[in-house]
Amino acid sequence: MLHVADTAEGGERWSEALERGQIVHFPRCPVALPEPADQDFLRGGLAPFLKAKNVSWYPRADRLTGVQAAEAAGRAHRILRAHALRVRAFLEGAMPGFTRGWEPGTSSFRPLEEKGRALPAHASNELVHVDAGAYGATHGDRILRFFVNLNPGRDRVWISKGSFAELWRKHGAEAGILQGGLEPALPGKIWSGILKTAGRAFPMARVIDTSPYDRRMRRFHNWMKDTPAFQSGPSQRFAFAPFSAWMVLTDGVSHACIEGQHALVDTFIVPLRNCRFETPYQLLAGLSA
Ligand SMILES: [Fe+2]
Repeated sequence: MLHVADTAEGGERWSEALERGQIVHFPRCPVALPEPADQDFLRGGLAPFLKAKNVSWYPRADRLTGVQAAEAAGRAHRILRAHALRVRAFLEGAMPGFTRGWEPGTSSFRPLEEKGRALPAHASNELVHVDAGAYGATHGDRILRFFVNLNPGRDRVWISKGSFAELWRKHGAEAGILQGGLEPALPGKIWSGILKTAGRAFPMARVIDTSPYDRRMRRFHNWMKDTPAFQSGPSQRFAFAPFSAWMVLTDGVSHACIEGQHALVDTFIVPLRNCRFETPYQLLAGLSA
């Protein structure tokens, strides 16, 4: 389930691999990384000023969260913004069809050690899950995440138990996930439209949005994290070396980060209409072959 990217093969091959539930791995990050002094600042200089588990830059509002001192926040803001724009330009250049009309989301730095954080189950990154929702409801749009291991000396370690399609076929019924009837009723559609418009001015308005699709994805996400027999079953392990990068549709591939510290994570919402292969939406709607 790992597709090792060759920069000569072209981005169409990458988007196909993503859609087929693979992790596209770049043994060396294909995007220029922040300057060494800025990397040192992210890894070490930020620590006294952290006020959240992630430091995140929001492109629409051009706003940084997670850092409390103005000077440190200003520097982190500049670094993450520049990184986000490089990642975005790289992906749009490589995969013009797949990224058409997409919505760039946050660019985050994850400063904490992932191993043994003992977070509540539904917030834990150490339990295998598929992502459900990002900035509120996705209505079937896809969640693409581009990761960089910024730790100079340690791997970032993931485990996976397979693609959404595999897991849904195997565990969907047991998890109580309904199939079919995904078209939201008219009032739901109108409500989402209102929230989407309001969300341009008030980003939190989109977070309360939901849809039948998003509720089913959330249910499956929670079932995975709440089912010890599922968590203890076999998994595949991936060790991402220092300064390597990887991207994945995190709603389409189960994953957990079990070890590692200091990663950059950029999120993008890819329109469902750009997908050429089977999607979680099609599967949940009962539209797939
Ligand atoms: Fe996740």
